[in-house]
Amino acid sequence: MTAITVAPGESLTGRLSVPGDKSISHRVVMLAAMADGTSEVVGLSDGADVANTLSIIEALGAGVEVADEVVRITGGCLRPAGRSLHVGNSGTAMRLLSGMLAGLAFTSELDGDESIRRRPMGRVIDPLREMGATISGVDGSTLAPLTIDGGGLHGIEYVTPMASAQVKGCVLFAGLSATSPTTVVESAPTRAHTEELMAASGIEVTMGSGSVTVQPGRPAPLAHRVAGDPSQAAFWAVAAAVVAGSEVIVENVYAGPVRTGFVNVLARMGADITHDLGTGDLTVRASDLEGTVVEATEVPGLVDEVPVLAVAAACADGETRFCGVGELRVKETDRLATTTSELGAMGARVTIEGDDLVVSGGSLRGTEVDSHGDHRIAMACAVAALVAEGPTVVSGWEAVDTSYPSFEHDLESLRT
Ligand code: S3P
Repeated sequence: MTAITVAPGESLTGRLSVPGDKSISHRVVMLAAMADGTSEVVGLSDGADVANTLSIIEALGAGVEVADEVVRITGGCLRPAGRSLHVGNSGTAMRLLSGMLAGLAFTSELDGDESIRRRPMGRVIDPLREMGATISGVDGSTLAPLTIDGGGLHGIEYVTPMASAQVKGCVLFAGLSATSPTTVVESAPTRAHTEELMAASGIEVTMGSGSVTVQPGRPAPLAHRVAGDPSQAAFWAVAAAVVAGSEVIVENVYAGPVRTGFVNVLARMGADITHDLGTGDLTVRASDLEGTVVEATEVPGLVDEVPVLAVAAACADGETRFCGVGELRVKETDRLATTTSELGAMGARVTIEGDDLVVSGGSLRGTEVDSHGDHRIAMACAVAALVAEGPTVVSGWEAVDTSYPSFEHDLESLRT
């Protein structure tokens, strides 16, 4: 296990770009693997999660060639991998690949790390079975590893029981190989990457109000430049907002729907923050913050940003309530528990009330905290450490490799 020590003090200044969007990266890689021909992708996420997805499509017979920042993927002739496919820590890969593999007429096994084996998979197994898939997991087919005997799917209309872009994406990926159209009706709108990228790869996609329909079809090869990941930019946005004297510009941050809710929340809290929707540049300067209420309807647009927004809330005047954040219990860790325990150890006043997370502003102190194997908890703690009194040791830092291997380097570059 590796640990880093973060001392408070210096302001953050400068421009930087963050890794390519992780959600988009997984989807582009999968569509390219299904497409007949060669796709060119620039700016893929360089984290271990997406590296695992690339290895998986290679094991399934796609060609992957990396030349500087361009990744060339040659797809179209997927075949059995002959081994279990390991997604590592990535719930997105696990759930989206289940959909893709359910449509391919051979047997696959999908597995992941300890965290993946604890996360709910019934939410994708159920709709895939409705589409005619033969798919099973352990513990009453609720958990990974999953065995998928692909092929023979028909389209369905599926109403998602929870707001989940992963469930929507899984069903739509399966829909590409079905014999009839597939519709997902969302309980609340979620990030639109699957439908946006499918449309960009020539799939017939119809977006209604609250629903999306895909026609079966084979994607065409893509040429795609992946925008910067808003979920990573959020760490610098909060850091710049709370560390006195800071001014940070994060370049080329994805600005599409249901992804940048944290910008509105920080602005409401009094942050000096602007997101240029043309260039994607996100500019943040330090300012005093005050508490706010984050409504449940906002949560799908900032679901991964709650731990770092809790850091902003811990530095704000008054109380911040994140309403209806129960889904955080089934992320890489139970993030209600890990946000509460780790920020709590640093002196933040964080409590869980039903499905709400409540944070009262105050001061933070440096101490020893742990990622619990969760990249976003590790990075949220590092941001909190920037404004704590005394140094903070974040152990389990290696978890950050799943999404942002250069986080520590980028932090240093903003502090010099
Ligand atoms: C993701 C959707 C979200 C998010 C995850 C990435 C995606 O999960 O937490 O990190 O790429 O579709 P849910 O869809 O399960 O909320």
